[in-house]
Amino acid sequence: MTGVRQELNAHGGVDSRRFAAVFSALSDGVLMTDQHAVVTEANPSAHRLLRCATLVGTPLIDLLPPGRAELIDRSDERVVRRWRMPAEDNEVVLEVVTSHTFDESGEAVGAVHTVRDVTANAQLLRLKEEFLFAVAHELRTPVSALTASLDLVHHDLTTMTPAELRTMIGTVHRSALRLEALIENLLDIGSIQAGTFEVRALTSSLRRCLRDAIFLAQPITSARRQSVRARIPREHDQVLADPRRTGQVLANLIANASKYSPEGTDIFVEAMDADGFVRVSVRDEGPGIPPAERARVFDRFYRSRITSNGASGIGLGLAICRAIVEAQGGHIDIGEASGGGALVHFTIPRPRIEEEDA
Ligand SMILES: Nc1ncnc2c1ncn2[C@@H]1O[C@H](COP(=O)(O)OP(=O)(O)OP(=O)(O)O)[C@@H](O)[C@H]1O
Ligand SMILES: [Mg+2]
Repeated sequence: MTGVRQELNAHGGVDSRRFAAVFSALSDGVLMTDQHAVVTEANPSAHRLLRCATLVGTPLIDLLPPGRAELIDRSDERVVRRWRMPAEDNEVVLEVVTSHTFDESGEAVGAVHTVRDVTANAQLLRLKEEFLFAVAHELRTPVSALTASLDLVHHDLTTMTPAELRTMIGTVHRSALRLEALIENLLDIGSIQAGTFEVRALTSSLRRCLRDAIFLAQPITSARRQSVRARIPREHDQVLADPRRTGQVLANLIANASKYSPEGTDIFVEAMDADGFVRVSVRDEGPGIPPAERARVFDRFYRSRITSNGASGIGLGLAICRAIVEAQGGHIDIGEASGGGALVHFTIPRPRIEEEDA
C-alpha cells in the first residue's frame, strides 16, 4: 500500500491521510496480499465481511471456507469468485474480485481483493429461477388440457354427440380462462412493481363481482367438488370499487380457499357492515394460515411450506389482492376461522350518498 500511496502523492492527487480515511470508509472490503498470498493490508469492511479479527499476516487460503468457492470469471489479471460463508440464520454470499498487481518489470508482486456482500442478489437470482420454473409449471396444466381437448375434437368431430362437444368446449374455455387469469396476475404484478397499477372505482354491485369471481374460479372449485356459499345482504351490495378488480380479488381468494382445502369442503363468502365500509370475508375449511406467516403471505412469490399441500401456484395472488384492496382505499388481513380454516377479510368503501342517488 505504501507504493500506491507514494504514487498518488507524486501526482499530487490524494494525501496519505485522506487515502487511509477512504480505505477505512469503503463499504466494500479491500484486502491486499503479497506474492505469497499472505494478507498485508485489510480495511474494516474486510474484517466485518469475513468475520475475522486478524487478517494481516494470514494466508488468504485460510480465510476461504474450503470447497465453498465458485469461480465466476477469470482472466489473466482478474479473478471473480463467489464464496458461500455459513452464517447463523442463513449463509452469506460474498463476491471477491482479485486483481493482480505488477511491478515495473511486469513481475506479479501481489494482489488486491475487493469483497462485496451479494447475498441479496444471489437470493434474487434464486427467486427468479424458482419463479420461472413455477410459471412454466402453472402454464403446463391448462395448455395440456387445451391440446388434449383440441386433439380429440380434431379427430372425432364428425362422430361426437352435441353433449360431448359441449363438454369439450367447456374444458377448452376453462383452460383458456385459467391461462388468462395467470397472465393477468403476471402483468399486474409487473405494473404494481412499476408503480403504474390503477383501479377505477365506481358504484358497483358486490354480488355481481362475486358472480364473476365464482365463474372465474369454477374450474378449480368444480374439479375439487367444492361449493361457494355466499351471503351478501342487499344493504351491503353497493360498493365503491373497480368491479373487474374486485372480482379478481374474490376469484384469487376463492381459488386459494379451494386449492388449500380438502376436496368436497365448502367455501363461505360473507359481507357485513364496517363503519363506512363493507367488510367481505372468505372462509374455508382447510388447515388455515399459521399466525407467524399471516403477514408474509402478502409478499410476492411467498408460498408457505406448511400450507401449500402440493397445490400449484406462484405466490402472486395475495400480493395482487392487497394492491387492489389498498388502491380502493380498503384493507386486507388474515384471521382464523372458528374451525381452524383460513379467514381472509377485506374492506371496500361504501359509495357516498350523492353517488348512490345519482
Ligand atoms: N386459504 C388458504 N389456506 C391456507 N394457506 C393459504 C390460503 N391462502 C393462501 N395460503 C398460503 O399463502 C401463500 C400465498 O398465497 P398466494 O395466493 O399469494 O399465492 P399462491 O396461491 O401460492 O399462487 P398464485 O395465487 O399466484 O397462483 C400460498 O402459497 C399458501 O401457502
Ligand atoms: Mg393464490
